[in-house]
Amino acid sequence: MDNSHSQFGGQSKIRWLIEKTSEDWVNLAISNPMEILLDHAHCERKAAGVALQLMFRYVSEPGLSAVLSPLAREELEHFERVLSILNSRGRKLEKLVSPPYGAILAKNIRKDEPRRMLDSFLVAGLIEARSHERMTLLSIHSPDLELRNLYSDLLKSEARHFGIYWRLADERFDRNTLTSRLEELAKVESDALVEMHQEPRMHS
Ligand SMILES: [Fe+2]
Ligand SMILES: [Fe+2]
Repeated sequence: MDNSHSQFGGQSKIRWLIEKTSEDWVNLAISNPMEILLDHAHCERKAAGVALQLMFRYVSEPGLSAVLSPLAREELEHFERVLSILNSRGRKLEKLVSPPYGAILAKNIRKDEPRRMLDSFLVAGLIEARSHERMTLLSIHSPDLELRNLYSDLLKSEARHFGIYWRLADERFDRNTLTSRLEELAKVESDALVEMHQEPRMHS
């Protein structure tokens, strides 16, 4: 697995992800566009929360807030954009049962520093990479033009966010430590999707 950031130029080059998303997921997602949209709104809200949480946890870490603050703002803009489409289609931000994905990844973040910081960056980056991959699929396969446009706009940011978390890790940890831990967590990430949650979700 070659994980260098420079590899991450195009949509098919997400080297972080061990397993590609299945066709079954794509079919389930495009047959349930409103549920995916609602879940997507929650994902953007949570992505903003993760960036803020890291910024607050490592408040004195040089260079971190300067990167994570605009990232959190951008995720909130995504949230607002998805929310406005939901509202325009007569839906609100209803509660939704989350798939086990996020909890499984969170459980694999080690508790002791600095390993906690490394794992937190890598897990956040993996989620961004998966979001990017899935939005790319939706931007191609969704039969709904407004949604295709939404996903194709947002996926570019998710690619950049993946790069941001990679750089945050790469600036602070040696490359061998980073890549070997990334491989372990990438396996956890792909396995978390194997037992597919029955409900249509961005990360089921
Ligand atoms: Fe986003
Ligand atoms: Fe993102």
